[in-house]
Amino acid sequence: MQRLKVNVLLVGSGGREHAIAWKLLQSPLLDRLYVAPGNGGTEEYNVAIGATDVGALTRFAKENKCFTVIGPESPLALGLVDSLQSEGLSCFGPTRAQARLETSKAFAKEFMKSNKIPTAEFEIFKDYKSAIDYCQRKEGNVVIKVDGLAAGKGVFVCSDLQETLDALKEIFAERLFGDSGNCVVIEEKLLGIEASFIAVCDGKNALPFGAATDHKRLLNGDRGPNTGGMGAYSPARGFDEKERGYVMETIVRPTVLKTGFRGFLYAGLMLTERGPRVLEFNARLGDPETQALLPRLNSDLLQMLIEICEKGTESSSAEGIEWSPNHSCCVSMCSPGYPSRVRSGSLITGLEEAEKIPNVLIFHAGTKKDKGRFLTSGGRVLCLTGYGASLADASNSAYKAVSLISWEGENHRSDIGRAVPI
Ligand code: AMP
Ligand code: GLY
Repeated sequence: MQRLKVNVLLVGSGGREHAIAWKLLQSPLLDRLYVAPGNGGTEEYNVAIGATDVGALTRFAKENKCFTVIGPESPLALGLVDSLQSEGLSCFGPTRAQARLETSKAFAKEFMKSNKIPTAEFEIFKDYKSAIDYCQRKEGNVVIKVDGLAAGKGVFVCSDLQETLDALKEIFAERLFGDSGNCVVIEEKLLGIEASFIAVCDGKNALPFGAATDHKRLLNGDRGPNTGGMGAYSPARGFDEKERGYVMETIVRPTVLKTGFRGFLYAGLMLTERGPRVLEFNARLGDPETQALLPRLNSDLLQMLIEICEKGTESSSAEGIEWSPNHSCCVSMCSPGYPSRVRSGSLITGLEEAEKIPNVLIFHAGTKKDKGRFLTSGGRVLCLTGYGASLADASNSAYKAVSLISWEGENHRSDIGRAVPI
């Protein structure tokens, strides 16, 4: 029997959402696509509703009979899925309670501890002085994380006592993270290589989706402050079938069973000598991991998401999900000042020339269209994904396109997909 076509409401405005929109538009099941609020790259599908306006999003989905796909964490934290479900509307994503795996790092760590999920040793602190005492005892060799959401910027990987004291001052005394910094997790520093692994979950079961390597630090060589992600490549380095099986059994399946999680479950992993350890959970697809993953996905994303919602993972097309053997590599191009205060409103030049480079996709993030031209509008502005038979080919294609695009103060890393043994 032929399936009816569906309208989709995609929530978010980043590079991840442009990549999801690009993929959904390839599905023969799609009727109409709406992106709320979207960016310059999704302009023809945009509706003027903010990603955190739960009431307006729910009304829109109801009026337009939409299946809703949610990109970022903030609408999940505000209960968009709960709201859609209470109206009987179909959507793919976790409830507010399930999203606590991402929205509270302290909750996630306690959850992992009580369910024996492998993660770094940790302590939780709510007051400035005891956090300082603990860092002094550990001689500063720790990682400090604010409990609440901080757009990937609330983690301090410290090397000495002074760095921990500076971080705690920003969090507790200067309150740079507001209420997100009311509580901190201080944890053991792990050594290894990182991988972002994403599974699709139906509340009872889970299947592996994909893995990518993200580069969170601002500067080449993985130095400087953490950002939302400066680039990523897929397949992930050092993450093969053995790691995938172990992570599904010891991390993903127990988490889904205990929480009833439904949606994309993202495990940020450190692949240590003692095996994979969870650095963080996210309750959604990663950004920029999605811009590296989706260009390699041969299967129909929309069909997979709808079938998981209707029938669960085991009888859905997620069972037979197909990936291209190609490599992909995406590079984030950012506004001056990112990840702190950024300058926006600059004219972006070179997009048309870059579009002509073969094997490259240009995903917009912080852009807006103004009189036919694109202006910068946010921290991460564009994400360029190259693909090819090797990581080197993918990275070279992406950088060829990057070199053609510019705006005042544009900033990107020049080593994504390059600083690794290929
Ligand atoms: P998170 O948001 O918790 O994934 O942390 C952001 C980044 O900080 C990670 O991608 C790692 O690069 C680094 N990081 C977090 N936790 C640790 C840890 N326990 N040991 C070493 N590096 C870490
Ligand atoms: N790139 C990391 C994240 O999406 O949280």
